[in-house]
Amino acid sequence: MVHSEEYKAKRLARKQRFMQQAKKNNVFKARRRNNFSRRPNYHNGPQNENNYEKAPKQDSTALRQRGFFQVLPTDDLPNVPECSHGPCLLFEKKNGPEVEETFFSCAIYRNQDEFCDFKLQYNKETGEIEVKEGEDSEKKKKKKKKIFGYNRIPKALTEMKPTDTVLYCKDCINVFANKHECVCEPVEKEALAKPTNLLPPVNEQHGESQFFFSEETLGVIVKAVEKSKVDGILCIGAPRIFENIRASHPEKNVFLLDYDKRFAKFFPSKQYAQYSMLVDHFFDKNAEPKLMEFFQNSKSILLITDPPFGVFMEPLLKTIEKMKQRFVSTGKEITSFYSMIVLPIYIRKYVLHDNFWMSDYRVTYVGHKLYQYPEKTIVRLFNNLPKSCIDLKNVEGYKFCEPCDRYVTKNNVHCERCDACTSVEQGKWNHCDQCDKCVKPRYVHCAECERCHLYGRCIQKY
Ligand SMILES: C[S@@+](CC[C@H](N)C(=O)[O-])C[C@H]1O[C@@H](n2cnc3c(N)ncnc32)[C@H](O)[C@@H]1O
Ligand SMILES: [Zn+2]
Ligand SMILES: [Zn+2]
Ligand SMILES: [Zn+2]
Ligand SMILES: [Zn+2]
Ligand SMILES: [Zn+2]
Ligand SMILES: [Zn+2]
Repeated sequence: MVHSEEYKAKRLARKQRFMQQAKKNNVFKARRRNNFSRRPNYHNGPQNENNYEKAPKQDSTALRQRGFFQVLPTDDLPNVPECSHGPCLLFEKKNGPEVEETFFSCAIYRNQDEFCDFKLQYNKETGEIEVKEGEDSEKKKKKKKKIFGYNRIPKALTEMKPTDTVLYCKDCINVFANKHECVCEPVEKEALAKPTNLLPPVNEQHGESQFFFSEETLGVIVKAVEKSKVDGILCIGAPRIFENIRASHPEKNVFLLDYDKRFAKFFPSKQYAQYSMLVDHFFDKNAEPKLMEFFQNSKSILLITDPPFGVFMEPLLKTIEKMKQRFVSTGKEITSFYSMIVLPIYIRKYVLHDNFWMSDYRVTYVGHKLYQYPEKTIVRLFNNLPKSCIDLKNVEGYKFCEPCDRYVTKNNVHCERCDACTSVEQGKWNHCDQCDKCVKPRYVHCAECERCHLYGRCIQKY
C-alpha cells in the first residue's frame, strides 16, 4: 500500500505523541521490570470477541488451549453423548472465523490424553454424531448401577460403643472400631464432619482442581452467609463451605453438589449429590427430587460456587440460571435467590451485570503455589448480595470506603470522576479523560483505536 507524505507525517506524529505519553506513565520501566512484553495474550471467550485480557503466567497453557474453543448449547439436541464422566459438552474449534471442527467431549476433564480422550465429531448441518467402535462398552459401563454409600461413616459411628476407639482408613474411606487391617489412625468424631481435612485433594490440572479455601477465606464467606440471613445454602463445588456451615449452623438448610463422590460417604442423600456442573447432570436419578425438597424447605437461597480454574463460563452461568428456575418453581420470589461465584478477575466481564459486583477481597487457598498468598491471588468473590455482607473489618489489608459503601483494598483509591474505587488488581488505576473511565496503571490512551491499552498492543496495528 502506498501512503501519501501527509498521511505518513500524521502517523509519525501520532506515534511520537503515544511514545511520549507512554514514557510519562513509566510504561517502559514497568515493561523491563516485569518482562511482560513476552507474555502472550489469552482470551476466555469466542475468538472474535475483542474482550481478551492478560491472564497470569501460571494458567497460560490451559487458557491458550481453551482460547480457540467455544461451548455450544445442546438443549435442542435429541441425544447428547456420554463418556464415563457423564454427558459431554459440545465444542466448536475455530481458527479465526473458520470453524475447524465441532465435537462432543468430556465435561469434567479437558486434559484429553491423560484423563479422558472421549471425542465424537458432530455434523451441525445434518445433526449426525460420529459412531465409534467401543462405544457400546462405554454405554454398558454407564448402565452399571452406581452405589454411592451415602452417610456410611456417620451410620457406622452410631453403631459403635462410646468406649470404642474410632479408626479412620483413608484408603477404604471408612471408620472402624478399635482395629482394621490397613494402616490407619484414631480420629475424633467431630473431625469426620469435615472431610475436606481428611481427604487428599484431587488436583489434576484440567479436571477437578480441588483447592480448598484458607481459614481466612472460609471465615469471610461464612460471615457473608450469616449476614445475608438466607436460610438455604447451595454449595456447588464448594465442599469446605458446605461442611463448615453444616457444622456451625445446624438450623440452616444446606446442600452440596460436587463431582467428587467421596463426599457421599460423609453426608446423607438429602444434603449431597454427585453432579456435573457444566451440564447440570445428577449421577443419581433420585438426587434431583432431593434438591427440590431442599428448595421447597428454604425461604431464600445463597448459591456458592467455586468452579475449577479455567472453567467455561457460558455453561456455568446457564447452570446457575437453572438452579434459580428450580427455586422459583417452588413458588418463591426470584429476588430471594442470591449467588456468589468465586472466579479469577480476568473473567469478570462475564459476571458483572445486573446486581453483581466484585468484592476486593483476595481469595486464598491452602497449598496453591500462588493463590495461597493474598498479594498473589487473582481470585475474587463475585456476588449479588448486599454490599454489607462482605465484611472485612477484621481482615488485614482492607479499609472501608464510605462513598462506595464497601470494603476495598488499602491501596485502592476512590476516583472522583468515576465515583468508585476503581483498582481491580494491586496498584492505583489512572483516570483517562478520553475513555472517561479508570484504566490499568500501565495503559496509555491510543488515538488510533481511541481506547487505552498496553503500549504496542493496538488492535488496529500500524
Ligand atoms: C477449586 S475446588 C473448590 C473447593 C472450594 N475452594 C472449597 O474449599 O470448598 C473445585 C471443586 O469443584 C469440584 N468440581 C470440579 N469439576 C466439577 C464439575 N465439572 N462438576 C461438579 N463439581 C466439580 C471439585 O471436586 C472441587 O471440589
Ligand atoms: Zn470423560
Ligand atoms: Zn482400609
Ligand atoms: Zn470508593
Ligand atoms: Zn476514574
Ligand atoms: Zn483512554
Ligand atoms: Zn490502539
